[in-house]
This record gives sequence, C-alpha cells and structure tokens, in this order.
Amino acid sequence: MTAKLWAGVFSADVDAEVLDYTETTGVDVRLVRFDLWQTLAHVLMLNRADVVEDADAAAVLDALLSLMDMHDRGELRLEAELEDVHLNLESMVIDRAGASAGGRMHTARSRNDQVVTDTRMYLRQVVLDLVDELAGFAGDLCSAAREELSVVIPGYTHSQPAQPITAGYWRTAHASALLRDLGRLQDAYGRIDLSPLGACALAGTSFPIDRDYTADLLGFGGVLTSALDATSTRDFVQELAAVLAVLATNLTRLSEEIVVFSGHEYGLFRVADSMATGSSIMPQKKNPVVAELARARAGRAYGALVQVLVIAKGVGLGYSCDLQEDKPVMWDAIDTVGATVRLMRLQMTNLRIDAERGLALCYQNFSTATELANLLVSDEGLPFRSAHRITGEVVAALAAAGATLRDGDLVAKLLLERDVSVSPTTLTATVAPLSAVQRSTSAGGTSAAATTSTLVEIESDIAAVSGWCRQRRERLAAAERQTVDAARSFTENRGRTHG
Ligand code: ARG
Repeated sequence: MTAKLWAGVFSADVDAEVLDYTETTGVDVRLVRFDLWQTLAHVLMLNRADVVEDADAAAVLDALLSLMDMHDRGELRLEAELEDVHLNLESMVIDRAGASAGGRMHTARSRNDQVVTDTRMYLRQVVLDLVDELAGFAGDLCSAAREELSVVIPGYTHSQPAQPITAGYWRTAHASALLRDLGRLQDAYGRIDLSPLGACALAGTSFPIDRDYTADLLGFGGVLTSALDATSTRDFVQELAAVLAVLATNLTRLSEEIVVFSGHEYGLFRVADSMATGSSIMPQKKNPVVAELARARAGRAYGALVQVLVIAKGVGLGYSCDLQEDKPVMWDAIDTVGATVRLMRLQMTNLRIDAERGLALCYQNFSTATELANLLVSDEGLPFRSAHRITGEVVAALAAAGATLRDGDLVAKLLLERDVSVSPTTLTATVAPLSAVQRSTSAGGTSAAATTSTLVEIESDIAAVSGWCRQRRERLAAAERQTVDAARSFTENRGRTHG
C-alpha cells in the first residue's frame, strides 16, 4: 500500500498536501553529513554491545561510508516523499545493504534523539565558524585601531558633541563589545555540545547501549543524561538565537555610526565605493547600503529568537512536531547574522576616517570644554563645580561671538573677567583636541597609551578565543576521523570474514 518505513499500522498513504506541509528535506540538507556520522557511531556501538552482529554491522557501515562519499561528491539527493533526512538515509542504507542488515540500523534509536543529535552537531560547526569570523573581525578592528591612535574625532553622548576621542579608540570599543559576543558564543557552545543520542524516543531503551561511547565518537563534551529532557529541550537553539540577536544588535550600533558619520554634514567617514551603491536619479549619491542592511537585518535575528521561543512555548515534554519548526527559522538567522558579520568586517577594513575633518569638528563643537574646566581645577585650584560654571559661561560667550576655544587671547580675556588668569598659550595647548585626548590616560581612556593597554588586553583575549576554537575544531575532526576509520577498518576486516 505504502512504502513508508513507518507504514505498518497505516492503510492509506499520506495526502500529497500533508506531505508537502510536513516534510523537511529542504531544511535537512544541512544535516546529511552529521546524520551519516551519527549513524556510523550508533551502528559501531550497537555492534560493540552485541545488538547487531558483525556481518550486518559491516554491511550497514559499508553502505553509510559509500553514502558519505556520494555526499562529498555532491551526488546525494534527499527525496521529499521520504519526509526527512533520517528516513531518506535509512532507505538508502536498506537499498544498499538489504532489508535484513539495513533494517537493523535504527535499533535503539528514534528520530527524536536523532534529530537533536544532528542539530547539535551542526550548531557546533556553526558556532565555531562564527567564532572564527568574529574573532578575525575583532582582530582587524584592533590592528586598524593601532594605526589611528592620533586620529582625533568627536565623541558623542546624547548625539551631541561630548569629548574628543581617537578613531583607534572608537574601533577598540567595538572590538571590546565583540569580545563579549564571542564569550556568549563560547558559553552557548558548552550547552550545545552534549549528546542526546541514546535517549531514543523519550524513555531510553532495553538494549544495552553505551551512550558515552557514541558521545565520544561524535566528539561531544558530555552526555545529556535525562532521555525525556534530551529529546524535548530546544533551549540550546533558543540560547544561540538569543546570542545571535545580541550580536546583531551590537552590529547595528556600528552600522548606525557608519551611516550617520559618512553623511555629508558629518563628513567624518568615507565608505569604500565597493561597499556602496548609487541612486537611479540623483547622480551625486553614494549610499552606505551594507551598513543600512546590517542595521535592518537584525530584525531577522530578533524574529528568529521570538519564533524559536514561541515554537517550544507550552509544548509539554516528549517530542512534538512543533519542534521541527525551529530549524528553518534558525538556519535563516545563522545565514543572515553570518553574512552580516562578514560584510561588516569588510566594511570596517575599507572605511576611511578623515583626520582633518575630525580635528576641525572638535574645535568647532567645543568638545574640549571639559579640558578647560579640568585646567581650572588642577592649575587654578578651583572647585570643579565653579570651574564648570565659568567654562560654561566662556563657551556661551565664544559661541555668541562666533569664536571657538582655539582663540586663546579671547578665552584668556573672558576668564580674566571672571577673576581667573591663565596665559593664552597654556589655554591653546590645553584645548588642542589631540593633547586633550592624550591626557586621558586613566585605565580604558582614549589616550594612545591607555588605548594600547586596552588593545593588548583585547588582543590577548582574542588569541585565547581562537585557541579555544582551534582545540574544538581539532577535537571534532579527530572524532569524525576516528568514527570513519573505525567503520572502515571494521568493514575491511570483519566485513570480509562474515560478509
Ligand atoms: N523532521 C523531524 C524534526 O525535524 C525529525 C523528528 C521527527 N520525529 C517524529 N517522530 N516525527 O524534528
């Protein structure tokens, strides 16, 4: 009646529209490699536990290895008719190894533990790829920062000119934020990297399986013991979605600054031609579209977070089909945030910051007024509150006269009217933006010296994250090699004897 692997109890085939509504092969394409690796480990374990005998195990392993080769050659296709990656691959194994041997590979396993095992394996890869890209991005920001430790730009609070900073200091701040995103990815990895395999449908199994052995072959950091929880939870997906949403938000703040500061009125940043597009009507336009889209696409990451939360919300323990819905959503968030990180990294490599414009703005916008107030405190012994008031009055008078703090003679005169005597040369030196910046030597401050210390700290943290990532990649590669080698030598030795 029907060729479905689960069709025993059925007397009619599934409606075509129902199949269309429920099948996941398009989404599952990303899981093929992991499903094959997982099944190799599972069958090796079943044989070790004497659940599947040598000849049958060899036939199944041989089929799986040939499917892996097919997959590597890009020749393995999933059929929607067979619902998902798991049933597709099982059918292919049965076709190759025969029903008697192939029909044994799903012993002591359910698609419920299988799908979360695949998903966790895929997400490990995703996190490591993202960590590498993001660590590279943060590293690029630090290298560029070192070249811009005397490029002065205005710093803003409330979007109003506040105090001068350096372009290097600004890049360093964004690198510092990305470091926390890296930390969140590492934390999420720890909770993703647990093996649900062997949980079976929800209740474990009467077969003498070895969950530690399969976890080891799959390179997992541990086993997620409770079978009911292991098959039910999707909090590892939600956590990663949350991490992506926060990362996307951090990137929007950078995007916003690029959009605004590259506008004509600021004229501080120049976006590379390769990162911009023009207008179909206004010939003068160069639009910073990468930054604009990065700003907007955070919305997709937020949407994914809300969706994966709602998908699992109120779903009682034990697998429900609701749970398969998190994957397409998550894949989109992964692709979107991944591309945004890559493009923003490129954007920042190409971004030119106009040092002359930065300096000019810092004089025009009075952003070194705090330096003048500080001078009145440190050299003239005034209480800070009085120094603040007097400086405020001076700034108001200068603005009314169309002058700036750069006019030392006028500033000296205005101060004298308030019983404070400072030489014009001292004043000019004090309010020069570059010297103002270099005086902020407190920890984490904008001076070249303080920024360099911050950079050293961040760069050493980035190196540690990269080392962490390399270790995990090596562990996963070794585990996959070990599984494939074990399967290969098994089929070569026992396969020949028994098969
Ligand atoms: N395609 C399913 C998913 O993505 C696999 C698990 C299906 N299990 C089941 N009992 N229908 O979640």
